[in-house]
Amino acid sequence: MSDRGAIPPFVLTIFGASGDLAWRKLLPALFDLHADGWLPGRWAVIGLARSPLDDVAFRARARDGVARFARRPAEDSRWSAFAERLSYLQGDYADPAVYAALARRLRAFEAEGPERIHRIFYLAVPPALTEVIIARLGKAGMVQDRTCHRVVIEKPFGHDLASARALNGSLRRILAEDQIYRLDHYLGKDTVQNILAMRFGNAFFEPIWNRQYIDHIQITVAETAGVEHRGGYYDQIGALRDMVQSHLFQILCLIAMEPPVSMNAEEIHHKKLEVLRAIRPIRRDAVAAWAVRGQYGPGRIGEEPVPGYREEPDVDPRSNTETYVALKLFVDNWRWHGVPFYLRTGKRLPVKVSEVSITFRPVPHRAFPEAVLRSWQPNRLILRLQPEEGILLRFQVKVPGPVMRLEPADMHFLYQEAFGDPPPEAYETLLLDLIRGDTTQSLEAAWVEAAWEVLQPILDAWAAQPPEDFPNYAAGTWGPPEAEALLAAEGRSWHPPTLLERRAEGR
Ligand code: BG6
Repeated sequence: MSDRGAIPPFVLTIFGASGDLAWRKLLPALFDLHADGWLPGRWAVIGLARSPLDDVAFRARARDGVARFARRPAEDSRWSAFAERLSYLQGDYADPAVYAALARRLRAFEAEGPERIHRIFYLAVPPALTEVIIARLGKAGMVQDRTCHRVVIEKPFGHDLASARALNGSLRRILAEDQIYRLDHYLGKDTVQNILAMRFGNAFFEPIWNRQYIDHIQITVAETAGVEHRGGYYDQIGALRDMVQSHLFQILCLIAMEPPVSMNAEEIHHKKLEVLRAIRPIRRDAVAAWAVRGQYGPGRIGEEPVPGYREEPDVDPRSNTETYVALKLFVDNWRWHGVPFYLRTGKRLPVKVSEVSITFRPVPHRAFPEAVLRSWQPNRLILRLQPEEGILLRFQVKVPGPVMRLEPADMHFLYQEAFGDPPPEAYETLLLDLIRGDTTQSLEAAWVEAAWEVLQPILDAWAAQPPEDFPNYAAGTWGPPEAEALLAAEGRSWHPPTLLERRAEGR
């Protein structure tokens, strides 16, 4: 996390302040920062939304969110010191009068002291509202100072290559690139940031981090949840846009990027962009050999029966939206030539887990007889991004006893064991970066467009050919059989998450 001294005074305006993101994530994260003493002397939150709330009702809603989701308890004195900084402004996002009122409120706060106040406009609203809000902010002259006025836009940024380009174009007419913070909350997760620390803070990974030693890489981001109350939104988006285009591609880039010269935002962005640019283009007529889509039907999560996707609230009962994606990619450069990267993500899978598994090549010569090697497995490095965060190294050991027998064993580092305290929420880290104007963890325009470019043939092919077999996996299973076939064709299979292995062994 950031250096405590460097957090400037700020006003955070949240568009969509009565919504889920503010209630569940932003306000609890801000409260935790407040409780842990990260926030400066002067700061305020202005919640802006259409819902008819006043300051009192907005604070009550914030308190409910904080009580449920913050890491720190909202004791009375701590809460009141926080709550007095929150105010609410009701209005329509397209109404210029709202922006005039907002500008008055900002100026009044700024006039209370000599410090330069950083203005942060957080768009916690559906993507369709992004352009109108930014246009209004621009017209009202509220984002003119490039050094301390910033706008935050959550992913997905656009819904395909053309719309992302158009959106970037229209934002650029009003804002400089370093005023735009395109947010992917995975980049705020400690374990995701630790990929950089692990790869470039240690000497011994780099020499084996290439095609000579690595056989293939699997990235799994699985969720047990369905679409919950987001059916209306999700049905327009699907798993490829919602998860792969941002979260999974970011993980892929951190795993595959070349060593950076420094940790500057520009340098990190550049190295990540190189990875996307090296991805072998998928031909539209060959998409089926590279990508698998799925949609969950009714099933069980644990013991509990759950409905199929098409029966979820606000979802079209004939919907063809995918809730599962498996993908094979190649990064065509010297380091990775010929090493497949397998990505999969889905809703209503058996366990909530995000894990990267790096499988190394087998030993060049097996000197041990077959009987000794019965449980032999290639070495694996497993990055547990969540939950039970940590890193596991799986290698062969001799089973104790008078005869020679080899079995895989794990050497592990677990955050909880090493550091005790659970890591901060992703939004805490990202909010601090945002307030300080550090764009290292923000998505750069060129990266977003390159990510869409990789996926565009899949989007096109899937749009042109509606699936005939949806729903094709039962809730609570590991997705459609074609996902297994994608790897089986190459003599491989998806690794069960190590978390499940541990649970099965009762560890
Ligand atoms: C969001 C997606 O970006 O990430 C959701 O829109 C998904 O559909 C969520 O559930 C998963 O985030 P996490 O942090 O719970 O893995």
